[in-house]
Amino acid sequence: MRKKAILITGAAGEVGQALVAKLAENSETHIISMDIMPLPPELAMKVHHIVGDILDQSLFERIISEFDITHIYHLAALLSTRAEYSPMLAHDVNVGGTMKLLQLAAEQSEWNRKPVKFIYPSSVAAFGMGSLENKAKNPRPQEWEWNTPITMYGANKLYGETLGVYYSNYYKQLADDNPTMLDFRCVRFPGLISAFTVPSGGTSDYGPEMLHAAAQDKPYACFVRETAAISFMAMPDAVTSLIQIASAPRENLTHQIYNITAFSLSAEEFAEYVKKYFPDAQITYKPDVNRQRIIDSWPIDMKDDAARRDWGWDPIYDAERAFSEYLVPNIRKRYE
Ligand code: SER
Repeated sequence: MRKKAILITGAAGEVGQALVAKLAENSETHIISMDIMPLPPELAMKVHHIVGDILDQSLFERIISEFDITHIYHLAALLSTRAEYSPMLAHDVNVGGTMKLLQLAAEQSEWNRKPVKFIYPSSVAAFGMGSLENKAKNPRPQEWEWNTPITMYGANKLYGETLGVYYSNYYKQLADDNPTMLDFRCVRFPGLISAFTVPSGGTSDYGPEMLHAAAQDKPYACFVRETAAISFMAMPDAVTSLIQIASAPRENLTHQIYNITAFSLSAEEFAEYVKKYFPDAQITYKPDVNRQRIIDSWPIDMKDDAARRDWGWDPIYDAERAFSEYLVPNIRKRYE
């Protein structure tokens, strides 16, 4: 009999590493992780890691011949800044990769007559506020508002959400016998900040970059202006949200796509927190018009009432606690 397993794509990324570490705490869970990069050795020993491209079909054939996949955490993606430099590649990975994984989950659900849980992190990038005036007037959009992203990544995430809803509700809808469909659940993340990894290729990266630079005594020129504001979340809360939404009783979920957020800060407010703990931090502002435009298109915050109501979303870390209890102590240790 095939062994039950959880599949995590993009496992060597920031969210991936944190999620692998958390899920591997339960030694009963068999984890297959995938990424084009290897995992750090301390994580690799806890899971079955496959170095490979999610667009490579033969990898999945190998995986399903050996394992019965019950959950997929599909994290692999090219983030917003990176995607603007390679839009075709971003589309291939972000849309093509998602499509491949959804198809695999659909076939496995049908075959086993049991829904595979498909957990998909989407992003604040799925929003497009249109103008700074709209952004100021609509600080906390609902999931279905302002869905007009201006980035390839945002467009890819929004379409990934749509495909997930399709595969979990309408797949093969004209067939005589409706197959068992997958169980798609999605959270829209704000900018994420980890104490243990530094982001790459995102546009919200100025927050974590500022902090990691200060901890290493390096000057930092922030690529957005002081007043640029979006919401952020500490990585442990992001990981908790994925596990929480995966285990929520289906009947409690009134949405498939949920905004989630923890705290909203302007770049200047972010810098104030950094300076509180690293008073010598040298932070200047050198806005890059193009990356600034992307941040301007994202909302200041998101309305996450549905997640709070339906599955108990309640982040541990507000800005104060994120810095004092999670980020600063761990980052200090990291660069000691
Ligand atoms: N952090 C991501 C980015 O900046 C947004 O989801 O691309």
